[in-house]
Amino acid sequence: MNNFRTDNASEFVGTKVTLPGWVANFRSSGKIFFLQIRDGYGYIQSVVAESEVTAETWEACQKITLESSVIVSGLVSKHPKKDEYELQVTTVQVVQTAAEYPIGKKDHGPEFLLDQRHLWLRSSKQIAIQKVRHTIIKSIYSFLDDEGFTKIDSPILTPNACEGTTELFEMDYFGERKAYLSQSGQLYLEAAIAAHSKVFDFGPVFRAEKSKTRRHLTEFWMMDAEMAWHDHEDSLAVQERLIYYIIQRVLEANMTDLEILERDPEPLKSIQLPFIRITHAEAVAKLQQLGSDIKANEDLGGDDETLLTQSLDRPVFVTHWPAEIKAFYMKRDQSGKVALCDDMIATEGYGEIIGGSQREDDYDTLLKRIKEHDLPVEYFQWYLDLRKYGSVPHSGFGVGLERLTAWMCGIKHVRETIPFPRLINRLEP
Ligand code: 4AD
Ligand code: MG
Repeated sequence: MNNFRTDNASEFVGTKVTLPGWVANFRSSGKIFFLQIRDGYGYIQSVVAESEVTAETWEACQKITLESSVIVSGLVSKHPKKDEYELQVTTVQVVQTAAEYPIGKKDHGPEFLLDQRHLWLRSSKQIAIQKVRHTIIKSIYSFLDDEGFTKIDSPILTPNACEGTTELFEMDYFGERKAYLSQSGQLYLEAAIAAHSKVFDFGPVFRAEKSKTRRHLTEFWMMDAEMAWHDHEDSLAVQERLIYYIIQRVLEANMTDLEILERDPEPLKSIQLPFIRITHAEAVAKLQQLGSDIKANEDLGGDDETLLTQSLDRPVFVTHWPAEIKAFYMKRDQSGKVALCDDMIATEGYGEIIGGSQREDDYDTLLKRIKEHDLPVEYFQWYLDLRKYGSVPHSGFGVGLERLTAWMCGIKHVRETIPFPRLINRLEP
């Protein structure tokens, strides 16, 4: 084999190469047979001329089916008119002849495609989405590494809730007790800041949310970041720089993918720092003006998030929420009524992509909150301990990978941004 791939074809013009791949398309035109080969890096048109190949190869082409795995050999040439490369084929070896492929050219409904997710992943748009997701993951790691963060892997099996007990997946733990699937690694990261100052985790989290919206999965990937000596404002500055950085990397690495997805890159290109900051009270007032029936102490609904950002050219931080509707661990301002927290809302109606806050760092206050929220103090004793041994002001935030990917790709539903989506009504394949 050689190092030929469809994405480095320009270096191989005039060379004979061998390419393993899958048949993404084919058509016959008399004495010429065209194979569109997908190799995992792109596509290449492979031209088989009856006069140039053995009878065996020509026969094989006549029996080819969509998605068969093949090894083709041939000469790389530049397309006479387009900025593309072709293979002038000498041999075709069929490794496995695919059965009739269920996904065709016609429009299939989303449920059908989700049932075929194990195959749908090969479609060009789905490939493009996963490539964008990959860039986002990679750029989150490189940004945080450059900023001096250490990755700390938080556990997935936990004895208690992080983000409220109503959305917990519960499981039986050896018939002796209950365990829960983690909703966020945040609390564990708070333990690690005294060891590493700035830390992050990045992994799957679970929410037994009964919300059937285009923004909710029951299993999704979150990056939690936690920073010692950072107050709420310091945290906002890190969040906006991170998101800005990710956007630039996607625009550098994934222009072809955005094109395949028919995602207009202009709204992403025009995003500038700093992002907009408004308080929850200001957001409510603005939304009421725009016709929303949101009340002063309410969470923003999906429609509110869209309404709020519709005329904005950059994301907005909604800060200073009523403490009563936010998590127990959030530090409050002087009044004691407002949480020092933020939701970062993306542009173009993609909704909340980050949730973050400063954390309560005083032992007695935190104990009071845990009791107010009816949480079992014994399970939080270790978390309280952190306020006993060198407590410091600290803040953190969590980024939802699927919502961020949906926004970058310009696709409305998060279910296509994760390889195998888990939704209330879907656990398969
Ligand atoms: O706002 P959330 O619930 O924040 C936390 O869990 C904090 N403990 C994070 C932290 O401070 N370390 O979730 C963070 C983000 C949301 O902004 C959203 O992007 C995403 O996770 N998210 C979901 N994504 C897909 N499906 C769901 N059901 C989601 N719930 C939250
Ligand atoms: Mg949130």
